[in-house]
Amino acid sequence: MKKKRVFSGIQPSGRLHIGNYVGAMRNMISLQDKYFCIYGIVDYHAMTVRFNPKEMEERVFNCAVDYIAAGIDPEKSILMLQSMVSAHTELAWILNTITSISWLLRVPTFKEKRQENPDYVHMGLLDYPVLMAADIIVYKAEVVPVGDDQIPHLELTREIVRRFNSYFGHVFPEPQSYLGKVPRILGLDGINKMSKSLDNAIYLDETKEEMWKKLAIAVTDTNRKRKTDAGDPEVCNIFTIHKAFSPKKDVTYCAEQCRTAGIGCLDCKKILLENMYKELEPIQKRQKELRTMKDYIHGVLREGCKRAKEITEKTMSEVYEKIGIKSFHE
Ligand code: TRP
Repeated sequence: MKKKRVFSGIQPSGRLHIGNYVGAMRNMISLQDKYFCIYGIVDYHAMTVRFNPKEMEERVFNCAVDYIAAGIDPEKSILMLQSMVSAHTELAWILNTITSISWLLRVPTFKEKRQENPDYVHMGLLDYPVLMAADIIVYKAEVVPVGDDQIPHLELTREIVRRFNSYFGHVFPEPQSYLGKVPRILGLDGINKMSKSLDNAIYLDETKEEMWKKLAIAVTDTNRKRKTDAGDPEVCNIFTIHKAFSPKKDVTYCAEQCRTAGIGCLDCKKILLENMYKELEPIQKRQKELRTMKDYIHGVLREGCKRAKEITEKTMSEVYEKIGIKSFHE
C-alpha cells in the first residue's frame, strides 16, 4: 500500500530549545518510519517578519543541521527548502484567488501580529496561512505534525481545499493535524510558553553546565517554600519536563519524593539534568560535526528539492488541467 504523505514546515528561526524539541520535532522524527515525510524549511514564511538578509543563509543552514542532528533522516524523508521549489508560491497564488479575506482576518496569529505592530501590517502577514496551505497540499499531504498553535491554520487549509475541490474538481485531500502526545512545556519561569524572546528557554546546543545554571533557578511548585514542605508535582513545570525526558521509574520516584518532602527541588532537578543531557548529548555531537559539513548539507537540500519537484510537478499539472491552462504547460 502507498504510504500516506506527511508535510511539516520548519521556521529557520535560529536556535532550537527543548520546547521545540519535545513539541513538533519529536513527532516529526517518529513519523518517518510509518509515512512518507516531506519536511520543508520555510524561508519565505520566515521573511514575513523583519529580518536581516545577512543572517538568512546561516539560519537556514543551522536549521537543516539541527533537524538532521536530532533525527530527520535524509535517506528516509525529504528535507527541502521552500524557496527552492517554486510550486509552493505558485500554488499559493492560485489559492489566493479562492480564499476570502474575511477568513484570513480571523486567523489568531494575524490578529496578534497586527496588534503587536500596528504600523507594519503587510500582505505577507495576512497571506501567511495561504502559503502554508500551499506547502501542505502541493504534496497532497494528509498528515501534518504541528504544535497546537497551528490548528487554526490547518482548519483554514481544509477550508481552502474544500473550496478548490468544489470549484474546480477534486484534486486535494483534506489534511489533518497530528499533535501526538506532547506535554506542554512552559518556560523556566513556569508561567509563559518557552520562547527565545522571553529568555526562559533551555537550548538544544547548551553545555551541561549552562543547562544546570538555568535549571537550578527554574520555578517549581511555588507553594513549596522549604525542602521540608511537601510539594505538588502536578503544578510543577519541572515535573512536566521530567515526564518529557525521564524514564518512568524516575518520574514516579520524583513525584513520590516531592509529595512526601523526601527530596528537595534541587535533587529532583539534578535527576532531570542527567536524563535530559543523556538524550541531548548525542544530538549535540552530531550538530557539531554537521556544522563543518557545508557541502553535505547543501547536497541534502539540493537532493531533497529534486525529489520534491517530482511530486509538485505532478500536482501542478493536475491543477493546470482543472483551471484550464494545461495545454500550455505540456
Ligand atoms: N506556521 C508554521 C510554524 O510557525 C510553519 C509552517 C509553514 C508549517 N508551512 C507549514 C507547518 C506547513 C506545517 C505545515 O510553525
